[in-house]
Amino acid sequence: MDPQNQTALLTGCTSGIGLHLAHQFAKHGHPLVLVAPVESELQQLRTELTATYGVTAEVLAKDLEQQSSAQEIHDALDARGIQVDILVNNAGHGHHGKWWQQSIDTDLSMLRLNIEAVLRLSKLFVPKMVARGGGILFNTASVAGFEAGPTMAVYHATKAFVLSWSEAISVELEDTGVQVTALCPGPTDTDFFPKAGMEDTTVFQKGSVMAPQDVAEAGYKGMADGDLIIIPGAMNKALVQGRRVLTEKAQAKLNAKMYEDVPASEHQRSRGDIEQEAAEKR
Ligand SMILES: NC(=O)c1ccc[n+]([C@@H]2O[C@H](COP(=O)([O-])OP(=O)(O)OC[C@H]3O[C@@H](n4cnc5c(N)ncnc54)[C@H](OP(=O)(O)O)[C@@H]3O)[C@@H](O)[C@H]2O)c1
Repeated sequence: MDPQNQTALLTGCTSGIGLHLAHQFAKHGHPLVLVAPVESELQQLRTELTATYGVTAEVLAKDLEQQSSAQEIHDALDARGIQVDILVNNAGHGHHGKWWQQSIDTDLSMLRLNIEAVLRLSKLFVPKMVARGGGILFNTASVAGFEAGPTMAVYHATKAFVLSWSEAISVELEDTGVQVTALCPGPTDTDFFPKAGMEDTTVFQKGSVMAPQDVAEAGYKGMADGDLIIIPGAMNKALVQGRRVLTEKAQAKLNAKMYEDVPASEHQRSRGDIEQEAAEKR
């Protein structure tokens, strides 16, 4: 792969894993298309990436929960004569709480962003990759996709969808030159936790939480190596493998425990501590 000829479109690139994926792609020299909801944040990111790495970057401010956004992105790039060689479906969000107590709008919001937008963008760009005989579909799934997650029931189900769909179409796409990669991070220090109302949970306070920089680095390397499934971090790999000996219900109950709140007196970290520490080490 010659990165300079491989344009990567990244969704959800203004914070967390997507932000650091954007840095990884830029560092390797890929021209970029940056997609997220807030124009000013995208412009700021573009300025930073072009100045630091000397790459080109287009920005498209879009809310991917809107049904029309995928087509608008596709058409805007067509009009600018930009071909997408690597589609990184990264934007996603979660919600914490008992499913039967949360609104249907909350459920559907996760379905729209984590599933529908992924399908719509992929449906527009992957057939073109097949016609050209090459390309990469990179989906951010999650270790959550391997197991059910009580109090994050819909979120886990959306990630199980992304994982299963990625695995299935990777077989359909064999011999087309199009690669599928599913990045499956474990808990990662991003805005995901405050947005989902999960900063007080056992998984965030006491779990093995990775820096988004390390997750993104593992994601880019795995993609460049041609991996279908990437589980960053030894602990996450061990947990996914180890739990397979348990029944589905036992796995789900372990996740329920991880999603319980811990008292403030036992808090070990705040959002950003791990990301900051990783930034200082680099
Ligand atoms: N953090 C974890 O522990 C973890 C673990 C496994 C998998 N993941 C997955 O990793 C991916 C990235 O999440 P993250 O942890 O990096 O969270 P994050 O820091 O909250 O980043 C989410 C990104 O998606 C964007 N986004 C949110 N709603 C959007 C919308 N409607 N349309 C377009 N873009 C939207 C956000 O932009 P705004 O900030 O402007 O909303 C942001 O750029 C998600 O798919 C998530 O499910 C996260």
